Amino acid sequence: MSFFNTIPQIPEDPILSLPIAFAADPRAQKVNLGIGAYQTDEGHPLVLKSVQKAEQYILRQHLDKEYLPIEGDPTFIRCALSLLFGEHSSVLQAKSLFAAQSVGGSSALRVLAEFFAKFVSKNIFISHPSWSNHKQIFERAGLTINSYPYFDQKTKALDHEGMCVAIQNMPPGSLILLHGCCHNPTGMDPTFEQWQILSALIKKQRIIPLFDLAYQGFGRGIEEDAQAVRYFAEEGHEMGIAYSFSKNFGLYAERVGFLTLICDQAALVPNISCQTKYLIRSNYSNPPIHGARIVSTILQFPELTVEWKTELNQMRQHIQEMRRALVEALLAASPKHDFSYLQQQVGLFSFSGLSPEQVQRLRQEKAIYMLSNGRINIAGLNTRNLPYVVEAILSVL
Ligand SMILES: Cc1ncc(COP(=O)(O)O)c(C=O)c1O
Repeated sequence: MSFFNTIPQIPEDPILSLPIAFAADPRAQKVNLGIGAYQTDEGHPLVLKSVQKAEQYILRQHLDKEYLPIEGDPTFIRCALSLLFGEHSSVLQAKSLFAAQSVGGSSALRVLAEFFAKFVSKNIFISHPSWSNHKQIFERAGLTINSYPYFDQKTKALDHEGMCVAIQNMPPGSLILLHGCCHNPTGMDPTFEQWQILSALIKKQRIIPLFDLAYQGFGRGIEEDAQAVRYFAEEGHEMGIAYSFSKNFGLYAERVGFLTLICDQAALVPNISCQTKYLIRSNYSNPPIHGARIVSTILQFPELTVEWKTELNQMRQHIQEMRRALVEALLAASPKHDFSYLQQQVGLFSFSGLSPEQVQRLRQEKAIYMLSNGRINIAGLNTRNLPYVVEAILSVL
């Protein structure tokens, strides 16, 4: 009898299993609108030129590969914080903040979740819907998951009022997870005025915000996408932030990110620092170096920074262009359906409104892959596959 024979089988990850199923599909017309990664108009992954130049520069330095400190590379952390908050931010000058490099945004979320579960609260509220990994990351860290309304299925708009009511009913001391920009999966973000209202309510209710920022630069712009996080920090919230460089630097497999904890007294930072480092040490020990070197090289050399910003803006513009083309083509082909809500959404994703059955039919009948909740990766669309996708969507409505 095996020691392992009581282990039950569970379903594959809904997002990361899609590219595997897609690769195995022999149909020539297949389209992958599943995983959240940028693709060029030719349908290929993109390695940014600024990243390639930074890698060549790093190679020429013949740097060593010694272990990094538990909290990561100090130069990377300094550059990452400046990008997030702005170079001259009062938040950085206040020195009541701890930051550590992480293994992508996912491990930043995991370490923060363990930290909060151990020292602050085991109760977290996440938006309904949210990125599917949020629930499992937080559950594995020992948090109890609750949800707050986010998206109104009828109006296909942000349910800001529902969010406000929910916040006013959350037990003080709880955590609330907020997507800093480009909400995954709905693509609907609060306006700045709505963020201000949320901030005031969260403060009044004594809730602790935990921001997930995985798409800075993909929504409205690099500065604009950091506006909510910056505002909350300037308003004096004690908070956590998990940041991913996977998308905006196209460094998916390099696993680059960082976490930040902000408190209201600089004197508490050493305690927060040693406890967080203890959590990291007993998890992945210390972070990988290569991706962090790429990011800090790009952010340290002004010419590379300019080139990266240009490339990021081009990615954002391509996504916006594809979104506009999708909405226009759908409306032209079927004026009786209202798809204008898609135009209100920002970032890599669109919440198409398709049902799980319609998604299943698109996969079986048309070889078009997307998440069962109807989330579409807009960057999976291109000028060649768009007419086919539009025709297929209309065929299942
Ligand atoms: C909302 C959100 N948060 C965090 C992440 C994690 O990113 P990473 O791949 O850097 O772990 C993702 C990735 O898809 C995401 O969509």
